[in-house]
Order: sequence, then C-alpha cells, then structure tokens
Amino acid sequence: MTGCPFASRRGFLAGGLAAGLAGVARVASAGDAPAPAEAAAKGITAASQGPGREQSVPFRGVRQAGILTPLQSHTYFAAFDLVATRQADVAALLARWTDAAERMARGEAARPPEPDLAKPGTDSGEAAGLAPSRLSVTFGFGPGLFERDGHDRYGLAHRRPEALVDLPLFNGDQLQESRTGGDLSVQACADDPQVAFHAVRQLARIADGVASLRWVQTGFSANFAADDTPRNLMGFRDGTQNPLSRRPLESVGGVVQPATKDAVWVGEDGPAWMRDGSYLVVRRIRVALEHWDGTEVEFQEQVIGRHKVSGAPLGGKSEFDPLDLDAVDADGNPVIPETAHVRLASAAANNGADMLRRGYSYNDGLSMVAERWPPWRQGLEYDAGLLFVCYQRDPREAFIPVFEQMSKLDMLNQYVTHTGGGLFACPGGAREGGFVGQGLFEAA
Ligand code: HEM
Repeated sequence: MTGCPFASRRGFLAGGLAAGLAGVARVASAGDAPAPAEAAAKGITAASQGPGREQSVPFRGVRQAGILTPLQSHTYFAAFDLVATRQADVAALLARWTDAAERMARGEAARPPEPDLAKPGTDSGEAAGLAPSRLSVTFGFGPGLFERDGHDRYGLAHRRPEALVDLPLFNGDQLQESRTGGDLSVQACADDPQVAFHAVRQLARIADGVASLRWVQTGFSANFAADDTPRNLMGFRDGTQNPLSRRPLESVGGVVQPATKDAVWVGEDGPAWMRDGSYLVVRRIRVALEHWDGTEVEFQEQVIGRHKVSGAPLGGKSEFDPLDLDAVDADGNPVIPETAHVRLASAAANNGADMLRRGYSYNDGLSMVAERWPPWRQGLEYDAGLLFVCYQRDPREAFIPVFEQMSKLDMLNQYVTHTGGGLFACPGGAREGGFVGQGLFEAA
C-alpha cells in the first residue's frame, strides 16, 4: 500500500485531501510576535480559548516558539538523557527533531510515511485527524550536553554558557533524582493534550539510540475566557504580573532598568548561538492542597499578597493595580506582608530581577506524603500543584537570586514542596534550512 494515511493528520480522515487540508491550518502568531501588553501578561488571546485549535504556530523563526506564544491549554514537558558518544550524532538528532517539530506544528505527521505496512509506522498515529492546536515545541540544552562529572562528553565543554550554571540546592528542596535535570529538554504545548503528548512521543522515538527519556510532566491550564487570568489549583489568578505587562517603572517600586535590558531574551552578552534564546527554569512544585483548603481565605490572601476573587494586590481594587510595597495599615504594619509571595517575587524587591512565567497546573493523582509543616499530616494526599516554568535572559540575575530569598522567607513555603526540575539553555530559533542549536555545533 502507498500513501500512508498519517502523512497528514487531517489526511487520516480526508484521504486524498491530505495535503490541501494540512495547508488549511491558519497561522497564529510567530513565536516572537508580541501580543498586546495586557493580554500577553495573562498569556491570553482569543486564540487561547479552545477555537485556537485550527491554528498553527510556525516552528521556525528568529526565536523559538512556545516562549512568547500565548499560553496553550496543555503541556507535555520532557527531559532527555543523551546516550550517544559522538557529537555528530547529537547534531544529527537535533536536525531530525527540527524537521519533525516543524511538520507537527503544521498539523502533519512527524515523519514522511512508511508505505510498507510490514514495517512499524513512522508516526504512531494518535494525532491523525486532529488540528495543529497551536502546537509549539521548545528545545533546551542542559549542563550535561556540555560536561558530565567533569567529562567533556562531546567536545562542547568550552562552549558551555556561563549562565548555564548548576542550579544550587535551595532551602526546603526535596528534588527527586528521577524528576530532576536532563541533557536536553522538550516542552510541547498545545490546545489539545493528545497533540502535545503525540509530539513528545514521536520525538522520543526519533531519538532512539541517541537520547532517552529521563522524566516527563504533563500540565494543564484552566479553560479561561480571553479577558480573564487563569486560576491555579490554589484558586488564585496566576500570571497577572509578567514582564510584558510591566507598569510604568515608578509603579513597580521605582526600580529603573537600563533601556536595553530585556528580561527574556539573550542579547549581545551571550554566546552567538544563544542570541535571541532564553534560559528555562522548570520546577515541579507539589502543593499541599488539603492543608491549603483548610486555611482561612483571609490568611490565604496574606500568603499570596493578593485578593483571591479579584486578583487585586492587597490594598488595591482591581487586578492590574500596581503593588504598593510601601503601604502600611493604621498600626504601621505593611499592607502586603513582608513574607507575602508577590512581595518577595516582585522585581521591585529584587533589584529589578524579572522573568517570564509560563507555568501549568499538574495533577498526578495521590501519593504518600509526610507534610513538612504543621499539622504534619502523613498519608495519601493529592500529588498536584504547579509545573512552574519561567524564561529569562540570565538565571543568575533572575530565578536564582529571587528564589534564594523566597525559599527562606515566603509564607507559601508552608504549602509547597519542590520535587523536581532543571535549568536549560534554549537557543534562538531554527532558521530556514537549519536546525535548532546549529550555531553551537558549527562553532565547536
Ligand atoms: C506553587 C508555587 C507557586 C504558586 C502557587 C504561585 C502563585 C503566584 C500567584 C497567585 C501570583 C500572583 C499573581 C501573578 O502576578 O501572577 C504569583 C506571582 C509571582 N510569582 Fe509565583 N507562585 C509559585 C511559585 C513561584 C516561584 C517558584 C517563583 C520564582 C521565583 C514565582 C515567581 C513569581 C513572580 C515573579 C510573580 C510576580 C510578582 C509581582 O511582580 O507581582 N512564583 N505567583
């Protein structure tokens, strides 16, 4: 038999119309096209609501998609360990991944079809008939690509960017080896969970013999309206304050930043292959939902520093009111407590340190837990929380110092435990005819 039906996902249903239908997918926005400030702050556009499924996000561009791309409803994050021994095999894998990601973002099968049905298919087929669903695939490089245990595995050690540090152990970290690190990262996001999983599944197959899955994490975001900010599992609006929504400088505490400073993208300061790239910090954070649900709402608001229903900062009226970190009540106490999450996380309290957050809730059922704060419950509890994802120009000036403080002082720590994660250097986007991260290998 010829003309495998999985050549185009739509082709599975529409037979000979495959090629035409693949082209029907409307192109949403390029990965680097900024959305209007407030919408982007919330990670929302009209396309974020289910109907965005017909749209595709171009894979190629100056910057990788999936960073500024308005938040899709689902994610499938994967970290891989490299098992190859030769640099050329790693580069060849990235070329194959680029090709497959570009095809899947268009709504096509990951690889051209294998006409011989006596052989395994080149695509597993579960996304056949599904629309592109704004699939974005974002690739990153972990420290292990450059060196492991002092070993220069691929002749790339001298190319390791200074900003790609080994993340320090933070106060309270309970990172599990099986959910931490990785040599390569792939974050697939889509408005359909099956499209996101399909993408990683195909990439894992293509990696056979070169890289193997180390850990994965699914995530979801609420089915929110375009003019609303999604709520996390703690019931609070999450994503209100992001670099793109920056209020005038004086309203974030008067911290003046150099005009050229960009919170997200690597510029002239980084190696050429990282230009227009970004550093990804991902953390799997379990939230003690049972404990949180038994907490008075007033106290929950003190913990976060914002009102639960409106999302307004304490002392403010509406969600996008600026944080007033200097405001005090009649007794002279800060309106936003010294240990409130938003105060400790804010750029104003961190010498302007900033990051683009793009996280998802996760829900992995139940697990045996010993809580580390009163009431020190032990037993089966939800294994659910936040897959925290943030992008920044340099983690040494953003996530690391901010979380260093937060991990010691944040009231939220009573409810959350970091159980895994990693730091990855996400290079600039793949240009026409090239592959993602190509500059790293050319310069090696
Ligand atoms: C389970 C863990 C977490 C939860 C539930 C959580 C929740 C929230 C909520 C509800 C807000 C206020 C709304 C908004 O501006 O988006 C917020 C703000 C913020 N969070 Fe988190 N967060 C968590 C972990 C983290 C971590 C690990 C970091 C990184 C250091 C972080 C950094 C920030 C930043 C930078 C802001 C904006 C602060 C501002 O300028 O107003 N969060 N978070």
